[in-house]
Amino acid sequence: MLHFSECKDIIEQEIANIGLSEKSPPELYQPISYILNLGGKRIRPILSLMACNLFAGDVKPAISPSLAIEVFHNFTLLHDDIMDKAPLRRNKPTVHKKWNENIAILSGDAMSILAYQYLCKTNVEFIPELLTIFSQTALEICEGQQLDMNFETRNNVSINEYLDMIRLKTAVLLGSSLQIGALCGNAPFIETQKLYNFGVALGTAFQLQDDLLDTFGNEAEFGKTIGGDILANKKTFLYLKAIEISNEDQRNTLEKIYTETSVDSDKKIKNVISIFNDLNIQTITTNAVEKYTHQAMEFLYSVISPYSTKVLEKLALEIMDRKA
Ligand code: IPE
Ligand code: IPE
Ligand code: MG
Ligand code: MG
Ligand code: MG
Repeated sequence: MLHFSECKDIIEQEIANIGLSEKSPPELYQPISYILNLGGKRIRPILSLMACNLFAGDVKPAISPSLAIEVFHNFTLLHDDIMDKAPLRRNKPTVHKKWNENIAILSGDAMSILAYQYLCKTNVEFIPELLTIFSQTALEICEGQQLDMNFETRNNVSINEYLDMIRLKTAVLLGSSLQIGALCGNAPFIETQKLYNFGVALGTAFQLQDDLLDTFGNEAEFGKTIGGDILANKKTFLYLKAIEISNEDQRNTLEKIYTETSVDSDKKIKNVISIFNDLNIQTITTNAVEKYTHQAMEFLYSVISPYSTKVLEKLALEIMDRKA
């Protein structure tokens, strides 16, 4: 079995060889090269290659589809950062800040098309199924992103609605990364579905952890502006849980803060964190992250593969231990 550091090396090599920075017009291709070479944990393509390796010694058929997934993920980040008005990603200026919004929109569009090209560079018999899974996932991500924005101005979002929103915007891509990898390894369909479910549960834990780090993380490690979700009035698990367990005073204050527009940013973040702390939101969210990580592992344990799933389990635990 390949170790996940070996899978990461394969992906880094593929990205290094993509050769887009020389293409014309540079205004279209340089931002693509910039975002792809800004680092990033590469968890989705790594999961994909490892899922392939659970069923096949040779991961070659999964390499280009895994690259497709990473390119697609980075495309969603370009557009997400416009929608979330985020100035910082991976400790560097976001594309729309370094260039402008039109550049980020069009480079993002080109990346989504490139992703389809990479997806289809594999054994021809896999392509119809890969296209079905990938397109379905891509549409679901759009649905999740729209719900995420709708929730900014809604004040009666339930935790179940939130969980469905993060399943769509984040979790399904982890699920399909695993499913696509396994498919390229000729895995039986039922096993690819178990891996998909593993990825969706892991992705749910991953987004909960992302929400937690957005408020309680360290900016230098996280690489994104701390408090960004609060400033954008995002209905995260932290906020929704706080609303659920708060007293009337706290709830009124929170709801008022999340509808005000022209307030001092630092003050807004500080006031929200103070209520979150009074309500022990950090611990409650950490417990929810653990619950979904545990659920993910149950799916993983049910996978029947010629090789041990231990490496994947270890990777999942490392992903969930992240600060970045
Ligand atoms: C960021 O994903 C978007 C979310 C779904 C939270 P990652 O945290 O995987 O971002 P990179 O690619 O490692 O920067
Ligand atoms: C990201 O959710 C989901 C997608 C990019 C599709 P977030 O908005 O929380 O991701 P970050 O925190 O900006 O990376
Ligand atoms: Mg964002
Ligand atoms: Mg977002
Ligand atoms: Mg986030």
